[in-house]
Amino acid sequence: MTKKVHIKTFGCEMNQYDSNKIVEILKDKNSFIKTNFEDEADLIIFNTCSIREKAEDKVYSELGKLQKLKNKKPELKIAVGGCVASQEGEKIIKKAPYVDFVFGPQTLHRLPDLIAKEKRSGKSQVDISFPSIEKFDNLSKPLASGVSASVSIMEGCSKYCSFCVVPYTRGEEISRSLDSIIQEVIELTKQGVIEINLLGQNVNAYRSLNHNDIEIDFADLIEYISQIDEVKRIRFTTSHPNDMNDNLIECFAKNKKLAKFIHLPIQSGSDKVLMGMKRNYTYLEYKSIINKLQKACPGILVSSDFIIGFPGETEIDHAKTIKAIKEIFFDYSYSFIYSPRPGTPAAYLNDETSADDKKTRLGEIQKLILAQGAANTQKMLGTIQRVLFDHLDEKNSTYKGKSDNNRIIKVTTEENILNQMLNVKVSSFDGKYLHGEIV
Ligand code: SAH
Ligand code: F3S
Repeated sequence: MTKKVHIKTFGCEMNQYDSNKIVEILKDKNSFIKTNFEDEADLIIFNTCSIREKAEDKVYSELGKLQKLKNKKPELKIAVGGCVASQEGEKIIKKAPYVDFVFGPQTLHRLPDLIAKEKRSGKSQVDISFPSIEKFDNLSKPLASGVSASVSIMEGCSKYCSFCVVPYTRGEEISRSLDSIIQEVIELTKQGVIEINLLGQNVNAYRSLNHNDIEIDFADLIEYISQIDEVKRIRFTTSHPNDMNDNLIECFAKNKKLAKFIHLPIQSGSDKVLMGMKRNYTYLEYKSIINKLQKACPGILVSSDFIIGFPGETEIDHAKTIKAIKEIFFDYSYSFIYSPRPGTPAAYLNDETSADDKKTRLGEIQKLILAQGAANTQKMLGTIQRVLFDHLDEKNSTYKGKSDNNRIIKVTTEENILNQMLNVKVSSFDGKYLHGEIV
């Protein structure tokens, strides 16, 4: 009988990408098929995240529930992957001996080997090493699901911000080869993909060699990908302010396929806090990057990550973040209260701000950015936007798709525009969706 795998993904887009790869590999090598239901699975995988607090606790409590399932069905196998696995390693087996496999973000391709080893020895298997970029040479053919697809181009992070676990759980920055990226993109376009989202912790730290052994950077990679005719739009996430070179800024001016939108984490508007975070830029440096981007690409919208209540953040620092939000006019945010992570330098800092004050500050910045986003949406009325239509409501011939800046735009037409990228003149906003006509 065909075996079934159920995978539960926590955290970022990189984990989502990795989960898809795990399913593809298990399908290829072990003939597993994917199921959305835990209780019919032969293998249950948690692909975990440890970016903020309580992640480990949550994983252990979810594992506790699986133990009951395993008691009823002893042949059930349980695997823990991702960043909690990378951080905890053997500890997971000690605390939860019914777990059969522990693997890290860089060893997911070894899961079939771990399955074979466990079968031979009957012993739980742990592999959380960082075998360089080996993972990308061992992936199965990508399976597209729709017209948009993500492609991971680099792994890890070498920035070591004082609050962050990523360099420890995912390893140092390492770029995938140009060939393997291009091959994956071509394979996806053969399956109908026209929008590519380039993924990595710091995509603009990408460096590789081209066929003439000349070093290429992230902007060059975008150029290579945009030469593939079938690719109509390119996005990326996440980029880092310190890797924002002129080549990439120019790409926003010249490359027609690159979406007019950028997610560029700032974390705070206070230089004192930025220094404590070891971000290695000042607010003015960040602002000057945005000024250059706006000059190269008028109308570009910017979203960002914020950490509120970093140790030592005062009301004055918070006011600086508010000022920055207004000046840059951020369109969207991923903002969270600072969470001390074991093993990171910031975890040892004195933190005197009360939980209530942090919540108030977070609420304030989220409200402000939501209002700015709403104002940006209003400004889109009457403009022409490029929309990738990936959804059809047959009842009323209404197509739905996303603009470069992630707004959902609806168009009603008798013409079949599904899976196409088209220009739309925006005419109205109903409080949730924009509406328009094809031009
Ligand atoms: N490469 C990105 C960050 C990726 S981590 C960069 O340029 O900064 C994603 C986000 O998680 C970070 O931007 C940060 O806002 C948040 N984050 C990371 N560690 C955190 C912590 N200890 N507490 C709260 N938020 C955190
Ligand atoms: Fe984390 Fe800073 Fe890297 S936030 S992912 S260490 S850029």
